[in-house]
Amino acid sequence: MSKEIFEQPEVLANTLEGRLASLSILRASFGENALQMFGQIKQIQIVACGTSYHAGLVAKCWIEKFANLPVDVQFASEISSKEAYISKFDLVLAVTQSGETYDTLQSVKLAKKAGARVFTITNVKDSAITKISDYVFYTKCGFEIGVASTKCFTSQLGALLLLSIYLSTARNMLNKEKRKEVLNNLRKIPDYMENYLTNNLEKIKRIAKKYYRTKSMLFLGKGYNFPIALEAALKLKEISYIYAEGYASGEMKHGPIALIDKKMPTVVIAPNDNNNKKIMSNAQEINAREGKIILLTPESSNELANHTISIPDHIEDYLLPFITILPLQLLSYYIALFKGNDIDQPRNLAKTVTVE
Ligand code: M6R
Repeated sequence: MSKEIFEQPEVLANTLEGRLASLSILRASFGENALQMFGQIKQIQIVACGTSYHAGLVAKCWIEKFANLPVDVQFASEISSKEAYISKFDLVLAVTQSGETYDTLQSVKLAKKAGARVFTITNVKDSAITKISDYVFYTKCGFEIGVASTKCFTSQLGALLLLSIYLSTARNMLNKEKRKEVLNNLRKIPDYMENYLTNNLEKIKRIAKKYYRTKSMLFLGKGYNFPIALEAALKLKEISYIYAEGYASGEMKHGPIALIDKKMPTVVIAPNDNNNKKIMSNAQEINAREGKIILLTPESSNELANHTISIPDHIEDYLLPFITILPLQLLSYYIALFKGNDIDQPRNLAKTVTVE
């Protein structure tokens, strides 16, 4: 897992390679028909499980922002077990590392039956889901061995942001300059990730050492970082067996705040964006109840925080998920390591879930 965490800058660069010039790539990869179809669809339904579902939640923010299309993100297990409402005017976007997950496969079959087009983002060539999809976009992230997905997640994010830009291009929603700016910013992300991983490791190890005996942990985020809070909680659960939950930070006061006491550590993702004031007021409420706060912040220190983990403030808010996930993957990794767990083969889990 550690190797795969550190491979992420290279893996993201692979995912993006040769795919950053949107219109020509769109035509070459999917044909003129796709260009037309992308221009006409009315809504997108994303279906996925686990980590891929969290990547789908980030994609919802991107597609709504850049392509101005409504997006619904659903657990594939929910779609496949009910009379799902899928219309032939929808584009169903299946996100799946393996391309073999049972529930995702079933929901794609349902979508096809309803006459919808299916676009699949996957890492595995000729996997079952690719065979019944109309369009396939490979993440090209190489073989992932760790059961807890890391590099496949960031490569899914890369592919999904590209798709958001392709959709916005086909729908004339971004002018050429803005599109160029977004793609240029995205091009720089692998280098930022590389720097981040080299410069922040020791501090994260120290924090992990302090908290590896905790019984539970909360993760809060807002906007683009709400799905990152969910993904961080899933990573911690999977490999450390510590009970963890991710929440939209604004939801704290609607219930979870009852959990806060001296023993409860909460990771708060607080970038310097439009949401900062609101997130810091949630941190204030935790601090007032003597909860421990691990704050992801561009500031070097903060009076509310017991620990700070630095995040950059020069990166656009929509690109931050590529960075904010890194310290949280490392935190889970080191907590599990200090507990002496078998990190690559966590108990009760399989890499690919091909059963219902
Ligand atoms: O292969 P898929 O992306 O369809 O797999 C979905 C989930 O089973 C997977 O993401 C799972 O949650 C991982 N163990 C997460 O680390």
